[in-house]
Amino acid sequence: MDKIVVDGGRPLRGTVRASGAKNAALPLLIATLVAPGEHRLANVPALADTSTTLSLLGRLGCPSLVDGDQVRLDTSRIAFHEAPYDVVRKMRASVLVLGPMLARAGEAKVSLPGGCAIGTRPIDQHLKGLEALGCRFTLEGGYVHGKAGDLRGADFRFDMPTVTGTENVLTAAVLAQGTSVLRNCAREPEVVDLCHFLVALGARIDGIGTETLTIEGVSRLSPPTRPYRIVSDRIETGTFLVAAAITGGDVEVTDADPALLGSVIDALRSAGCTITTTPTSVRCARSGPLRPFSLVTAPFPGFPTDMQAQLMALACLAEGDSTLVETIFENRFMHAAELRRMGGRITEKGNLATVHGTGRLSGAAVMASDLRASAALVLAALAADGLSEVLRVYHLDRGYEDMVGKLRRLGARIARVSDGERDAARFQAAMDAPLLEASG
Ligand code: UD1
Repeated sequence: MDKIVVDGGRPLRGTVRASGAKNAALPLLIATLVAPGEHRLANVPALADTSTTLSLLGRLGCPSLVDGDQVRLDTSRIAFHEAPYDVVRKMRASVLVLGPMLARAGEAKVSLPGGCAIGTRPIDQHLKGLEALGCRFTLEGGYVHGKAGDLRGADFRFDMPTVTGTENVLTAAVLAQGTSVLRNCAREPEVVDLCHFLVALGARIDGIGTETLTIEGVSRLSPPTRPYRIVSDRIETGTFLVAAAITGGDVEVTDADPALLGSVIDALRSAGCTITTTPTSVRCARSGPLRPFSLVTAPFPGFPTDMQAQLMALACLAEGDSTLVETIFENRFMHAAELRRMGGRITEKGNLATVHGTGRLSGAAVMASDLRASAALVLAALAADGLSEVLRVYHLDRGYEDMVGKLRRLGARIARVSDGERDAARFQAAMDAPLLEASG
């Protein structure tokens, strides 16, 4: 297993391109199942989760071809109905096959995702919404087995806005007979991207971007003639903005959409950063000290839970007390313990974390617990004095395309080395090695 080593304390400067959004790519790739034929998607990020999704689709009988950031996918035939445990355990988003498979093939069997590092994360809302459309579920040997005849439109209200829940039910409703009204839907930009993709396949959806989606079911959908381009990754963009903020640097992220980052930009400004935007880029610069700030995670357009860990790392570098309230997931402060190992002074009380910022962190060996926690630890390491090691980087591979390469091009001293490696001199050599070798 690999780890990331960082020699911290250098301000990052330059320009970096945002990749396509992981959380849009996965549902869109899976949603191709509703329209038989050959699909072409562009701006697909090269991530472990993308490969897992394509291998899952392959196991359902849909082969694919990857060429750079373009993916061709043939969904003409669905040969199997099962998303097995060994795939779902790696990637919860596999549960998204339920909606499209039930709508198109009338059957789907998906291993229950179970708990994960950031909470229990049930799928009851997915199942209730699909049941409202006429699906029936049984639980057998850890699998949810769904069956459906002809789906019928329904009026359904989610108990809470759920991103993948909305996506799952929506992707079935587009092929149901009659009208569906889905209420209290998630409004995240990735849900909006899925809506636009489904419309490009021929679906009829009203209220896109609002909490009420009205879907007029159609009997058949087909792949669009032109490749569909996936929206840019607002969480990756936000992570690079924090990299500039935390190191006292100046970074511009291109191919980004600042309109999707309002709450993150507000938090960075209140921390003392200068943010400038164009319609397709965001730039973050900091020269003065970091100020403490407060944030509360909330469904879009609120502050994204997927940026909470990165901002906690930033708060450690501010001088004074910052507060972070996590309202989406329980148990999403696992990075706090690792930040403490780097000298962060963080107290937790339920879903409230108070960071007593001291303006500095020191390098240490730390362990990533989930994807965004890993990003937070890398950010902390970039600002810390001395060498840090971030272990379990496979989490990072799930959601950040070439993070080490992108950070090195911004001037970071960072490298990926094998986990057994302990020799500081070799770390230095790895960080000085040409980019291709080190970013692997
Ligand atoms: C998605 C994102 C994830 C992000 C999260 C919140 C993807 C692939 N993942 O995850 O990166 O952190 O949104 O923005 O897009 N809930 C239930 N029952 C359900 C479904 C959800 O109780 O059936 C609860 C969850 O436990 C959580 C809240 O609803 O407390 C929101 O979760 P949800 O939006 O569903 O997260 P995901 O779609 O799993």
